[in-house]
Amino acid sequence: MNAPLLAIEGLNLRRGATHVLHDLTLDIRRGEIVALIGANGAGKSSTLQAISGLLRPLSGRIAFDGPDGAIDLTRLAPEAIVRAGVVHCPEGRQIFRSLTVRENLMMGAYPRTDRENLPAELDRVHELFPILAERAKLAAGSLSGGEQMMLAMGRSLLSKPVLLLLDEPSLGLAPQYIERIFDVIEQLRSQGATILLIEQNAAMALEIADRGYVLEHGRITLTGTGADLARNDEVRRAYLGDLG
Ligand SMILES: Nc1ncnc2c1ncn2[C@@H]1O[C@H](COP(=O)(O)OP(=O)(O)OP(=O)(O)O)[C@@H](O)[C@H]1O
Ligand SMILES: [Mg+2]
Repeated sequence: MNAPLLAIEGLNLRRGATHVLHDLTLDIRRGEIVALIGANGAGKSSTLQAISGLLRPLSGRIAFDGPDGAIDLTRLAPEAIVRAGVVHCPEGRQIFRSLTVRENLMMGAYPRTDRENLPAELDRVHELFPILAERAKLAAGSLSGGEQMMLAMGRSLLSKPVLLLLDEPSLGLAPQYIERIFDVIEQLRSQGATILLIEQNAAMALEIADRGYVLEHGRITLTGTGADLARNDEVRRAYLGDLG
């Protein structure tokens, strides 16, 4: 059997005085969309930050099955992790407001060594998000919140993700933008991307996810297919707003 693309084992992480992740274990297979759901403060963003090397765990292993075999991401610097193909689209977008839309997009291309495919991939990003072509020369700060999220996703795509880590892509967006973002996530999967998706919008996340994990106070308490979790009574009460 193929090794998972990403295998996290026994991850423990502290932030300040708080022990935020407790023996976290999860895996992601190639081509899957895996949803990580949980309440505010559960440790979802911290998990992504540990994968992308922004936070160093106390213990545990994050094995990424790269082109030259498995590597332990906990030993690599964030730049090396991006170059290995693990791309983090962070909470709060983190775009550069005074740079143009195009300049922001091109920042995504910095870790790449191959430049020849870039024009075609920029075209693809513009197809997914036509607004980014229309506004290419405007300051990114002039985009609406939803448009900024599209910019952040477009920038991540230009980094050529093997594994894309999406932190709350629908947060604060109007319904038509949310639909668009979820459409794009599905398109990306159909083109072979593997995605770890964090969402407060658990209903939509579980609908498109192959599998999901529920994180409570830094511990994985449930896992299953997206459909199983969406039917689970506890999940329905806690995350799907089902009071029945
Ligand atoms: N910079 C920090 N320093 C210390 N503690 C932090 C820091 N950032 C987050 N924490 C704590 O770590 C825990 C996990 O936070 P994290 O941001 O991973 O949660 P989350 O599941 O992403 O929540 P949300 O849904 O609100 O984004 C929380 O208790 C939080 O208060
Ligand atoms: Mg978060």
